[in-house]
Amino acid sequence: MKITFYGQACFSIETKGKTILTDPFISGNPLAQHINVEDIQADFILLSHGHQDHILDAVSIAKRTGAKVIAPYEVHVWAQSQGIENTHPLNPGGKWDFEFGTVLCVVAIHSSSFPDNSYAGTPVGFVIWNEEMSVYFAGDTALTMDMKLIPMLCPPLDVAILPIGDNFTMDVKGAVIASDFVACPKVIGCHYDTFGFIKIDHEEARNAFEAAGKELILLDIGKPFEV
Ligand code: NI
Ligand code: MN
Repeated sequence: MKITFYGQACFSIETKGKTILTDPFISGNPLAQHINVEDIQADFILLSHGHQDHILDAVSIAKRTGAKVIAPYEVHVWAQSQGIENTHPLNPGGKWDFEFGTVLCVVAIHSSSFPDNSYAGTPVGFVIWNEEMSVYFAGDTALTMDMKLIPMLCPPLDVAILPIGDNFTMDVKGAVIASDFVACPKVIGCHYDTFGFIKIDHEEARNAFEAAGKELILLDIGKPFEV
């Protein structure tokens, strides 16, 4: 599978000829100013919760590409209200088979509201798998014991995409433990550096994973990566 990082929690995951885009926040990201939102392709858009740094470009990309928006119930209702008809609601514990594979919606410990402060339901993470890949996209979350359920319910993960920026989510230390909980030593970090509260030391973060016998991958924004 090919994974491209577009900053914050936005990833493009290409598998089985389909492109799955997570939490598009590009036009408002000072670190992603070299990315043209108009160039981003998507067949499916996964939204983990309603915060601005996860949904900002979702409507424009969904309308231009016709991508199906997969999101927790309240975010799906919001997407519909924005004129996106092609949506699918998923709440924690539920899964569905799409053309590219299965998506299991999992627990995330965080908050969720829309930029206008209205209620956006519960935040979630997703595990995505098919015959050739299995990936956990944690969304914004604290370290939680619920992560231990993932290896019981899903095929072995090739990679786990975990937030590591602290303040709004777990930090690097939490992500090292999360990597144990989900039984996946290969981690792609997200939700760091974008704003002042979540700036991290990259070398320190990589070393913490290495000391635990794991690998932390910090991707360059816009550069494809093969897993
Ligand atoms: Ni958030
Ligand atoms: Mn966030």
